Amino acid sequence: MQLNTKRMWLSTCFITFTVTSALAEEAPKSVNEQLVDTLTSLSGGPHAGFRSNHAKGIVTTGLFTPAASAASVSKAAHLQTATTPVIVRFSNATGVPNIPDANGNAFPKGIAIRFQLPDSEITDMVCISVNGFPAATPEDFLGLLNAVAASGPEAAKPTPVEQFLGSHPAALAFVKTPKLPPVSFATQPFFGVNAFKFINAKGETHYGRYRIEPVSGAQFLSQKAAENAAPNYLMDELPARLSKSEVKYRISVQLAEPADVVNDPTVVWADTRQVVELGVLTLNAMHANGDAFAKGTMFNPLALVEGIDVSDDPILLARPGAYAVSFGRRLQSK
Ligand code: HEM
Repeated sequence: MQLNTKRMWLSTCFITFTVTSALAEEAPKSVNEQLVDTLTSLSGGPHAGFRSNHAKGIVTTGLFTPAASAASVSKAAHLQTATTPVIVRFSNATGVPNIPDANGNAFPKGIAIRFQLPDSEITDMVCISVNGFPAATPEDFLGLLNAVAASGPEAAKPTPVEQFLGSHPAALAFVKTPKLPPVSFATQPFFGVNAFKFINAKGETHYGRYRIEPVSGAQFLSQKAAENAAPNYLMDELPARLSKSEVKYRISVQLAEPADVVNDPTVVWADTRQVVELGVLTLNAMHANGDAFAKGTMFNPLALVEGIDVSDDPILLARPGAYAVSFGRRLQSK
């Protein structure tokens, strides 16, 4: 009896083991894992210790000071009267850690802002240098990335990416967006692209998208200057600038009107929509240990506080999952 029980236990274990390993072999990868896989292979990676997207970057520190108008939009703690310390990472697109800063593929530029609230609470704002996105869903974004990956020099015409762009006007519009690199990260505007739901102290709600504008004005390199730019000109320029003066950006939110689409980042809202100032971001130094901070940190566009909520934009909702796959691999890599 004892033997039988033992045999049964062993055979149950075996069946469980066989079924588990079969599942492990056959389980399809999630869209987020596939997105990170494709981003990694497009960058010639894996590149140990780096992000699978926005790999090249620099980290600064500073303060956020809210404007009086911010409270009309949201009751979030950092949008009220106090000043909040921030850590801000600027980056180039792609998972290529040494991509030249003026390279067309290093577009869009990224900004990731971590607001360090009291009691170790944080909230993040993660934006890019273009107002729009090439895909409305993570599946479509994967379709675009896979089409790019399948469109090497050997690919027959029309290439998979040409076919994709032919049938996806939003992706085509994004690809055609002018790519002149900025004079400095300090002269680059950024956009939140995904909508959030903002709630004020009266319980009133508005959907809105972030805008981050350099106080010194947007300035871009000429075509000729871009061609002659040094590979690290942006990463070298900001520390030099910050050693002499502060860098300021005005952060605002563009509010949707009732008929505006709030769950599709490919749909850009009209410039006539109301823009409410949230406050001023002031950078005053480079982070003392920026590379280690960047490696050990995942900025999360859904790290939110009371007064700011998600929209049901599928791209926004997918982002933390994809970032976590990339972050997990970064931490595991030697
Ligand atoms: C489904 C769509 C998207 C995917 C799959 C995706 C993927 C990624 C991944 C894998 C990372 C690296 C994260 C890490 O390792 O810590 C990343 C970083 C980043 N993404 Fe996205 N992303 C998407 C949409 C967006 C959008 C809509 C924006 C801006 C509006 C954006 C802005 C950024 C920025 C600025 C970073 C760098 C953040 C940092 O400095 O740590 N991404 N993205």
